[in-house]
Amino acid sequence: MVPTSSALEFVGAPTWSALSGKPVAADVWTSVHEVPHVRIGQGADLVVVAPATADLLAKAAHGLADDLLTNTLLTARCPVVFAPAMHTEMWEHPATRANVATLRSRGAIVIEPDEGRLTGKDTGKGRLPDPEALFEACTEVLARGNVGAPDSSTPDLSGRHVVVSAGGTREYLDPVRFLGNRSSGLQGYALARAAAVRGAEVTLVAANVGLPTPAGVRLVRVETTSELRDAVVEAAASADAVVMAAAPADFRPTQVSDAKIKKAADGSAPTITLTQNDDILHEISTTRARAGSVIVGFAAETGDDTGTVLDLARAKLARKGCDLLVVNDVSGGAVFGSPDNEAVVLGADGGRTDVPLGSKSALAHVIWDEVRRRLV
Ligand code: CTP
Repeated sequence: MVPTSSALEFVGAPTWSALSGKPVAADVWTSVHEVPHVRIGQGADLVVVAPATADLLAKAAHGLADDLLTNTLLTARCPVVFAPAMHTEMWEHPATRANVATLRSRGAIVIEPDEGRLTGKDTGKGRLPDPEALFEACTEVLARGNVGAPDSSTPDLSGRHVVVSAGGTREYLDPVRFLGNRSSGLQGYALARAAAVRGAEVTLVAANVGLPTPAGVRLVRVETTSELRDAVVEAAASADAVVMAAAPADFRPTQVSDAKIKKAADGSAPTITLTQNDDILHEISTTRARAGSVIVGFAAETGDDTGTVLDLARAKLARKGCDLLVVNDVSGGAVFGSPDNEAVVLGADGGRTDVPLGSKSALAHVIWDEVRRRLV
């Protein structure tokens, strides 16, 4: 634990020490014989600065080293995560923008603050993300750092805006009933979390997902396919990449009853007529609101007598007009709600990457690797 002297104004050193069970030092003059100003940074696997104030970001961007934390930042060669928290005006100030850009350009991961209540009565962008979300983001950074390449924790999507859709849409029959599907949103959320720690500005369009919002991600909640379409099309206009991990309902009831549908006295069941929904992936792939954007679809396939899973997937890739298609063989129904996934990523350019059974986070990183390779 390396608090700054300002942090000690909020929480004293004995409390930090008692809660963490670790030694606490703020200056470079304690235990000098152990050379802590160099040793801590050199030995770290990950440095997390949370909350990172405007002042700390400025010091880090300019390489100042007037206390133990800033010395540690200069000596660390591991991934460094900053989780800024400050008032909106300070976050938006050109000085802070420039400092954040400098830190990102040097490979630091600066997590976008949340919007919401700030210290005092005001609300806006600048809130520290929930500790659980920050912890997940840090776990993601560490996992990626272990992938192998020395630069594998660099924020290679920095400066890019990516859109991810997640979850399953609901199509209402009446105010209380809907047609839905089994999509959990786990893969879409893993994609959003992975993109955020790779430095992207992330818009996550979530249809009926109950999972905690990943740190540093802008969340747009929707329910129906029509709402999902509008949110994705709007966000895609400024996006470098769109990944359609959501499961939009292909059909919706032709009519939505304003009142709850009652049981008929004669025991007869109502007939529900369905209309086909717009195909969002096809629409954004064929209109390409932003030239050079990379568009990714998902296909949950089962082989049949007209072809194998991969035959059908290649045909779908061509039909949809997207650049990449992530193909899941769902013959066993195993993907839904599972923390793991196994897939083949097909490229419209003929590429094929097989991703063995592993975490949805691991698959997410492979998808972003493939996207990044295709970004101009
Ligand atoms: N998708 C979409 N809009 C829809 C339906 C699906 O954008 N209305 C997207 C999904 O997010 C996913 C991909 O398209 O990325 C899945 O293709 P889809 O047509 O849903 O597959 P199937 O329903 O299996 O299609 P088909 O019945 O034609 O095989």
